Amino acid sequence: MMADDWTELYRPQGLSEVVGNPKVIKDLRQWAISWEEGHPVHKAVVLMGPPGVGKTSAALALAKDLNWGVVEMNASDQRNAEAIKRVAIRGSRSETFTDEGEFLSSKDGRLKLIILDEADNIFGREDSGGIPAIAELVANTQQPVILIVNDFYELSRKSSAIKNSTLQLRVSRVQAGTMRNVLRRIAIDQELEVPQRVFETIIENSNGDMRAAVRDLQAVGEGNLNMDEDDAFVLQSRMSVKSMYDLMRDILHDSDVRRARRTQMDVDETPDHIMMWLDENVPLEYKDPEDLHRAYLHLSRSSMFLGRVYRRQYYGFWSYANDHNVIGVCSAKSRPNRGWVQYRFPSYIMKMSRSKALRSMRTGIARKISEHTHNSTRRSAQDVLPYMTEIFRADREFRVSMINEMRLSTEEVAFILEKKVDSSEVKKLMIESEKARALKERPESPAVPAVDDKEEKPEKRPEPKGKQASLFEY
Ligand SMILES: Nc1ncnc2c1ncn2[C@@H]1O[C@H](COP(=O)(O)OP(=O)(O)O)[C@@H](O)[C@H]1O
Ligand SMILES: [Mg+2]
Repeated sequence: MMADDWTELYRPQGLSEVVGNPKVIKDLRQWAISWEEGHPVHKAVVLMGPPGVGKTSAALALAKDLNWGVVEMNASDQRNAEAIKRVAIRGSRSETFTDEGEFLSSKDGRLKLIILDEADNIFGREDSGGIPAIAELVANTQQPVILIVNDFYELSRKSSAIKNSTLQLRVSRVQAGTMRNVLRRIAIDQELEVPQRVFETIIENSNGDMRAAVRDLQAVGEGNLNMDEDDAFVLQSRMSVKSMYDLMRDILHDSDVRRARRTQMDVDETPDHIMMWLDENVPLEYKDPEDLHRAYLHLSRSSMFLGRVYRRQYYGFWSYANDHNVIGVCSAKSRPNRGWVQYRFPSYIMKMSRSKALRSMRTGIARKISEHTHNSTRRSAQDVLPYMTEIFRADREFRVSMINEMRLSTEEVAFILEKKVDSSEVKKLMIESEKARALKERPESPAVPAVDDKEEKPEKRPEPKGKQASLFEY
């Protein structure tokens, strides 16, 4: 975590610093006291609400106020279902465990607050085993549990056990006035002069998301001690730029076609890019086979038009592709989708950029070879690199001297060996070549003192520049 991240710097340190939602804070306190007194009516609390309103902060602040330990589990990972289950079982048998979830037998430990953050992700996946694990946790835990979700619908629909055995607290968006106070306090602490217009623009754009507001204040405020009205204007135009995630939400989640269309005009993205994003994310939102069928029909049409755009170089077809992408896919659903979905970056683009990265790695190495062999980069890549790779893999001495002669980077070595950059083979090899180089560069101070005093001049290597050198001289 960055030390100068204002959202962390100004994270509430106690419940009294969590602004807004006074009723939720009061209920949370009362629930904690019932745990302290040893007879909680509800073993677990569900904090639900939109992002950036202080859910995580409130849970952490509560633990701090009561001097409880904290076991934080990010539920976004499937593997964590197992960890959750372990804690559930351990928690039911033992008094306490460490912050890492390790069992402690001593009975004098403090209570540990188990925080399951972003639990939506687990409820979104029927097959992950996360739901029964959490149901078990909230039923059997001997430690207080807080579940944090964005959307309660999925949770209540998928598990009535969880719904019925927990205390649910709804955290609302932070109001403008409250937000203004917090932003003012931060500005004073940072010795910032912030014009009223800038505050108002930030607050307006945040839509009750306090994290976003603090982040925006940092974005305009840092290194800009004397802001003026122009900053408000710049801010405004920058903030009106919508992201691909907004567009996905408007197309896939909601049914307001007009709004989806407006958002599409606001985002600066080409239709083929939008199509790839939809292709990746449609199945995350659309569960009804009919909806899916219709949505992909539109995407295939869009793809057809895009093909024509590139074949005929006629960009007029872009608008047809866009209509299928936006209006077609949006209206393919029979009703608005429920639940909260984490949209994914298209795997196709990811794969492409990965292979692009590999290509540029190959070219980089070939360029180094060509400097030494005076071949073209292309010939080096085609004719020399394959042989070099084989010898490199087979011959230890060759490896070490190649690394030093060509100044191969760790990434390049990993690429040639087809190993991970942080694998032990690569690390060992880099250390070895480092040592060999040090020895070569300072031969007068060897690790073992020379037996006789006669000064041995280090043999100077011929400069590779300007002179034809065979690869195999190394
Ligand atoms: N109610 C709040 N009171 C004070 N600061 C808040 C509040 N909500 C959010 N923040 C600010 O935003 C940051 C992120 O809040 P967080 O609790 O992580 O939100 P959530 O978990 O609801 O997404 C906090 O560190 C703090 O700077
Ligand atoms: Mg959070």
